[in-house]
Amino acid sequence: MLTALKPQPADKILALMAAFREDARSDKIDLGVGVYKDAEGRTPVMRAVKAAEKRLWEIEETKSYTALTGDPAYGAALTQLILGDTVPDDRIACAATPGGTGAFRQGMELVRMAAPDARVWVSDPTWPNHLSILRHLGIPFTEYRYFDSATCDVDFDGMMADLDRVAEGDVVLLHGCCHNPTGANLTEAQWRQVADLLVRKGAVPFIDLAYQGFGDGLEADAQGTRIVARACREVLIGASCSKNFGIYRERAGLLIALAPDAASTRLAQGTLAYLNRQNFSFPPDHGARLVTMILTDDALRAAWQAEVEDIRRGLLTLREQLADELRRQSNSDRFDFIARHRGMFSRLGASPEQVEAMRRDHGIYMVGDSRINVAGLNARTVPLLARAMVAAGV
Ligand code: LMR
Repeated sequence: MLTALKPQPADKILALMAAFREDARSDKIDLGVGVYKDAEGRTPVMRAVKAAEKRLWEIEETKSYTALTGDPAYGAALTQLILGDTVPDDRIACAATPGGTGAFRQGMELVRMAAPDARVWVSDPTWPNHLSILRHLGIPFTEYRYFDSATCDVDFDGMMADLDRVAEGDVVLLHGCCHNPTGANLTEAQWRQVADLLVRKGAVPFIDLAYQGFGDGLEADAQGTRIVARACREVLIGASCSKNFGIYRERAGLLIALAPDAASTRLAQGTLAYLNRQNFSFPPDHGARLVTMILTDDALRAAWQAEVEDIRRGLLTLREQLADELRRQSNSDRFDFIARHRGMFSRLGASPEQVEAMRRDHGIYMVGDSRINVAGLNARTVPLLARAMVAAGV
């Protein structure tokens, strides 16, 4: 049996991590995988998370099973962070999942069960693993225009024109904030237009929210999701705590299903429990419990919010430094979009050959589509990246 297996394509982002590790150069720069790094290149455990872990160690008396959809307090706390009071409780079904990837996977399994003929519309480009999971599940998908590579902003007219072809019951995948891989995001006015279109078409939005707090702030980054949640009868939201709580390996995610009425909410809740049971039974609890403790304790929450804000401001500063440096070194303003982008990533607009040249000649690692993880930079390496980009002819 095992000899009949076919080799599977490596995930490009994770393969890049391995290639970076193997590069012996001491001055190499990692701008690959979306993991936050401080100015010293470390990914520290957040102070609020450490404090919660210490407290948890003292008070936790059992590691027996929770519920199939996780501790309800986790779902309630995270849903509140994302939606505020936008949607009444009797319309909200949710389940803890192993990270944001788990939320997307469970969400798409739910789509396949409920609407086997639905097509999923994805932004061009999107996170490559979205496409890989859709292919794995055999769900048909179509790309809608999203990124204008000439301006490095959102091609909103193209996006709306493409989404005008969406059929009733189709699913439209949107990034709630901090678009991965481009860094280009919708304005609030554009979110409203998208929400109107979804309502007009009878389409179901799936919002992937993996970087809340890294763009314009915890509240601001939830606005698009809330606009859609207010407008649409049915919404799926896949949230991740990996980045904004820095608990990557703990796998804390949440799949939220907003249903039109209380009866369909119960149906959705039961289906989420069923899907968890089929795939892994109980979701991981440790990370989810830390998140719950932080969000429901005033002091821990304030400390966490301050840390997220520091990360966000650090990303913005690096963006401004890189845009300034490129202005100087390229004698042009064509890279100003880097300061306009938000979140952890920006797509620089380099060709695959230029990306390869920067890796070969300067030890700078970025994803093949020229996505950089801005957090991989620091004040010392910003000029090095700018120089390499200019040298490669970007
Ligand atoms: C990324 O896009 O780099 C992150 O979401 C990490 C991952 O799992 O790919």
